[in-house]
Amino acid sequence: MTTILVTGGTGYIGSHTVTALIQNGYEVVIVDNLYNSSKAVLNRIETITGIMPKFYEMDILDRDGLDRVFAENSIDAVIHFAGYKAVGESVEKPLVYYENNISGSVNLYQAMAKAGCKTLVFSSSATVYGDPEKCPITEDSKVGGTTNPYGTSKLMNEHILEDVCVSDPDWSVMLLRYFNPIGAHTSGLLGEVPNGIPNNLVPYIARVANGTLEFLRVFGNDYPTPDGTGVRDYIHVMDLADGHIGAVRYAMEHKGVEHVNLGTGRGYSVLDVLHAYEKACGKQLPYRILERRPGDIAECYADPSKALRLFGWKARYDIDEMCRDSWNFTLQNPDGIK
Ligand code: NAD
Ligand code: UFG
Repeated sequence: MTTILVTGGTGYIGSHTVTALIQNGYEVVIVDNLYNSSKAVLNRIETITGIMPKFYEMDILDRDGLDRVFAENSIDAVIHFAGYKAVGESVEKPLVYYENNISGSVNLYQAMAKAGCKTLVFSSSATVYGDPEKCPITEDSKVGGTTNPYGTSKLMNEHILEDVCVSDPDWSVMLLRYFNPIGAHTSGLLGEVPNGIPNNLVPYIARVANGTLEFLRVFGNDYPTPDGTGVRDYIHVMDLADGHIGAVRYAMEHKGVEHVNLGTGRGYSVLDVLHAYEKACGKQLPYRILERRPGDIAECYADPSKALRLFGWKARYDIDEMCRDSWNFTLQNPDGIK
């Protein structure tokens, strides 16, 4: 059986990916320090799949701990989700972000090299494209111009891993550039549980829909987009999880580094998403137009054809299904995953 180590496996995208891996016949070992997730996620994964994955409550900054994980398990490949992801917080605490997202990641890569496990799927982000020159964005578009330490940490990880692949041709590395993951598991058992007031659009709308927040603040309606509000490529987290199955399979058969977009190829505006959510929850949701949010770009959507070409993946869920599953999760888990 193929064994995959998943760092950050109890988090939002990690938990959906672990579920998909188990359902595709993989054995999974999770390393997570539970900084932004709870142990109860493991029970939810077991309820869905019938299998409880092996779990290490461990920080990727713990080098000896990582060596122990590789010594105790025969790991064939690693999917690396663990990291901090709050854009605004990264501006306030750059060193904390670089320590976790860079030092932690380098620790992991060193432990992999030591153990002779050189197959890796890394969670990168469309943020590496900065303000894109054109949409849809292809993987050969210019990268750089990131506007915050979080985004820069993703780009730095990409460069580190590119260098590793140059130095040692035995490595296989997939740099997956996610667009905007939203939605939740169709069972309603897994989903995103933001800490405090959400920064991201859909978790915020979910709180307006359940009455926790009064209205949506729409950050700007004077962008050069069809309705003036920002356009993004929202992707269902279950589609994203499936993309990792394809990527890990591909990585196990090919050496070298690949950069791959995971998006739907369709852009939706803030108001499009709001209206799709209104349909899902069956009520009108109040909003107000505010100033643009600093650092935001007008539009960002993927050309996802490389993922289709390399490993036969394309997104299946549409925006209505993404909002339906987000709302279902919100209703079923008023106190998060406990
Ligand atoms: P998440 O916060 O839900 O999951 C990350 C998990 O990593 C959490 O369970 C957390 O406890 C764990 N973790 C953090 N630091 C750790 C450490 N030092 N040691 C061990 N575990 C640690 O986030 P997510 O949305 O699932 O994102 C997963 C990955 O995808 C992240 O690397 C993120 O930057 C990247 N990504 C996310 C998005 C998005 O919009 N959600 C977009 C692009 C890329
Ligand atoms: N928006 C609002 N009101 C809100 C929140 C967001 O109008 O309360 C708007 C934003 O201005 C933007 C769109 O909704 O136009 C999406 O914003 P999000 O914060 O949901 O997502 P971003 O595209 O800004 O950022 C996301 C991830 C980042 C990642 C980036 C690029 O949060 O981690 O995509 O991949 F870096």
